[in-house]
Amino acid sequence: MLQEKIKQYTQEITQFKPTSAADVESFRLKFLVSKGVVKNLFEAFKTVSGEEKRVLGKALNEFKQLAERTFQEATAAFGKGDATPQRREGDLTLPGEGFQLGSRHPLSLVRKEIVEIFKKLGFVVAEGPEIEDDWHNFSALNFPPEHPARDMQDTFFIKKQEGNDIALRTHTSSVQVRLMEMGKPPFRAIMPGRVYRNEAISARAHCFFHQVEGLYVDENVSFADLKQTLFHFVQELYGEGTKVRFRPSYFPFTEPSAEMDISCTICKGVGCNLCKGSGWVEILGCGMVDPNVLENCGIDSKKYSGFAFGMGIERITNLKYEIKDLRLFSENDVRFLSQFESEVI
Ligand code: DAH
Repeated sequence: MLQEKIKQYTQEITQFKPTSAADVESFRLKFLVSKGVVKNLFEAFKTVSGEEKRVLGKALNEFKQLAERTFQEATAAFGKGDATPQRREGDLTLPGEGFQLGSRHPLSLVRKEIVEIFKKLGFVVAEGPEIEDDWHNFSALNFPPEHPARDMQDTFFIKKQEGNDIALRTHTSSVQVRLMEMGKPPFRAIMPGRVYRNEAISARAHCFFHQVEGLYVDENVSFADLKQTLFHFVQELYGEGTKVRFRPSYFPFTEPSAEMDISCTICKGVGCNLCKGSGWVEILGCGMVDPNVLENCGIDSKKYSGFAFGMGIERITNLKYEIKDLRLFSENDVRFLSQFESEVI
């Protein structure tokens, strides 16, 4: 009777081919728990008479070892109790995990594009500090003290100090001053960076944004050079055939000064919401560097002349990608950012 059972269960165990941790657990519950097959057979063995005991004892011990070994091997392959199979090293049939590619921020993409265009014209990249003193942000750039021109840009002050307040820079024009103070002409540089203004945050304004400043100072630099350089820039950035126009304007650090418009990138000049029906959109401020600025930086304004320009990267980006709300740039919403995954890096 007992011998029969040992034989039958031995056969069952040899044929046991688990495919999951759940199979391993069923095996344990059937054979190895305190009311399981192995224990029951040992119970039954107690009633066996002397002669049979010797033979069956050996068979029973072998059976017990078989059950335990089978359980250990199955556990090593699938784990115990857990419903999910354990990963086996090097199993090429398991599905791959894949990985997610990140994307560049649209402002970084556009800044890079702007920088590349000017680099090809021989401009180098320069940078300056975001915490600036009054001299570099205002005074050297020909903003007289108490002059209303200072109100053009609402400033975050860090420290008020007699004659030279410390503030977050309101524009990248401060880097022009640092560059010219440090070296000798000719200068041909573009200066990308973050700037700060004390503005309420809305779809159309933010308390920080990004600019690219441009400066070219040498002997005999003329307004024609300025126009040609910016015209070329616009053709490269927005495509051949984009029109430009210059409107007279005012900046303390340039004379004459202008604002440059381009034919609307959306409607191509026909008139749409973006250009408010005019067919034109403003993209930057520019002008001939005021001789006072050159002199403030220790440059002989009789010998040298130059042009400068400054543009907001957010504005350029909005026109390229039709982004209508400035806040999207700093909210880090992946639904917005991942739309730029396919853009060239
Ligand atoms: N700094 C000006 C601004 O933030 C932009 C600007 C205008 C820069 C004319 C220039 C320039 O270099 O020539 O609004």
